[in-house]
Amino acid sequence: MKIIIIGGGYVGLVSAVCFANMGHQVTCVEQNESKCMALQKQHIPFYEPELLERFVDVHTNGNLHIQSAISPENFESDVIMLAVGTPMAPSGEADCSDLFNAVTSILTLAKQHATRPFILSTKSTVPVGTGRHIMSMVASANLERPVHVASNPEFLREGSAVHDFFHPDRIIIGTEDVAVFRTFQQLYKGLHTESRPIVHATLETAELSKYAANTFLATKISFINELALLCDKVGADIKQTAKLMGMDGRIGKYFLNPSPGYGGSCFPKDTHALQFIGASNGINLKVVSGAIHANNHQIDHCFLQLMALCLVPPTTVTILGTAFKPNTDDVRESAALKLIDRLLAANIRVQFSDPKAIQTTKAVYGDRIHAHESPYDAAKNSDAIVLATEWNDYRHLDLTRLHAKMKSPNFVDLRLIYSHEELSIAGFNAYILGKGMHHNTTISPPTDIETIQQSA
Ligand code: UDX
Repeated sequence: MKIIIIGGGYVGLVSAVCFANMGHQVTCVEQNESKCMALQKQHIPFYEPELLERFVDVHTNGNLHIQSAISPENFESDVIMLAVGTPMAPSGEADCSDLFNAVTSILTLAKQHATRPFILSTKSTVPVGTGRHIMSMVASANLERPVHVASNPEFLREGSAVHDFFHPDRIIIGTEDVAVFRTFQQLYKGLHTESRPIVHATLETAELSKYAANTFLATKISFINELALLCDKVGADIKQTAKLMGMDGRIGKYFLNPSPGYGGSCFPKDTHALQFIGASNGINLKVVSGAIHANNHQIDHCFLQLMALCLVPPTTVTILGTAFKPNTDDVRESAALKLIDRLLAANIRVQFSDPKAIQTTKAVYGDRIHAHESPYDAAKNSDAIVLATEWNDYRHLDLTRLHAKMKSPNFVDLRLIYSHEELSIAGFNAYILGKGMHHNTTISPPTDIETIQQSA
């Protein structure tokens, strides 16, 4: 089939490459000239495992074309998918201005060039009611041939997006028209099976299902993160508690890993967007608000524990892992960067390392923080190490070698990679999120951020 993907970002480019990989004829329209030129030269502006090799393959064999604008021949396509950004506005609402501008452009050109019906589908995460609004835009355009509106939300995780595209738990198609659903069944032929179903829903249900899934996952994370704070107090072990919870098939073991908070371009945006959608409809989504509040508080707790562990206020802190999760160079809403902000506010020198995100981190802080390719160099003369992102590169660090590099032997493990025993044997005082603090000194630390920042 012939597909047009509008938007060459994380969602659009991954979808375009994977559809082309399936043998479809795909055109990806990226209106940003520099991004478009880079893609045409087979350069991808972000790291995503497997994507580059697949991109080169389909771009070279002609299944994928990159354009900077919609062209008349694009209207010979079966489906036009909208994969443009819907960023969070200050109010928390999803900003769909780029999406509606794209729809306006498409309908204006369709009036002149469309010679056959086509499907206009959202792929981006959009507020409930967006598809219905696009239907009204289509009606107002008074086109000669029908344009069918659909919603096909993506469930791709950064760092495993290609895998997730080819192994969907479900494919959701929101549309009023069964024939449109049949077209999507053809489009995704080979991907959907009994265990990976393609499901027909209404537009609103498809749109809400995406927010519901992401927000529930974020809520699960905030739940276990708050439980981790309680474990620190009552002496329970959060990792074992999560494991025991997850043994209940109704709960499931995934997304119960304690952390300094969820980040990325989706959970923070989608939780706020759903909260806004609720409020706009007179429903106060209190569980969602709780998940957002807990996530905002989590990094403050981690900062307090770091400062408490050091006892003597640190002058230099090392951050291992600045990407918001492993296997990506994306630092958007990364908990590690929120911690760096608090350290800089306390006039503490920050040294950091990350396997993929050094450049994206430096783009945020410039020379205000100090990058090192090696975690051991990043630890030099440092008062504390914070393991903030669970890269595999950090699962087998030579702790004794790290200890020897440092000025003061403090280790904060926010991703529960190491045990207190391992860290103690290597000579560290340690705080492990949800597993408490172990050090030899009994001085009671300050307990609020203002006191700490004044003393630093
Ligand atoms: C998410 C959804 O998983 C995906 O389905 C959707 O399409 C896009 O948003 P993504 O944001 O790329 O994907 O990453 P994800 O793996 O979900 O992690 C999001 C954040 O949650 C990361 O900061 C991660 O560190 C954190 N997280 C994840 C936890 O803190 N604990 C966990 O157990 C899992």
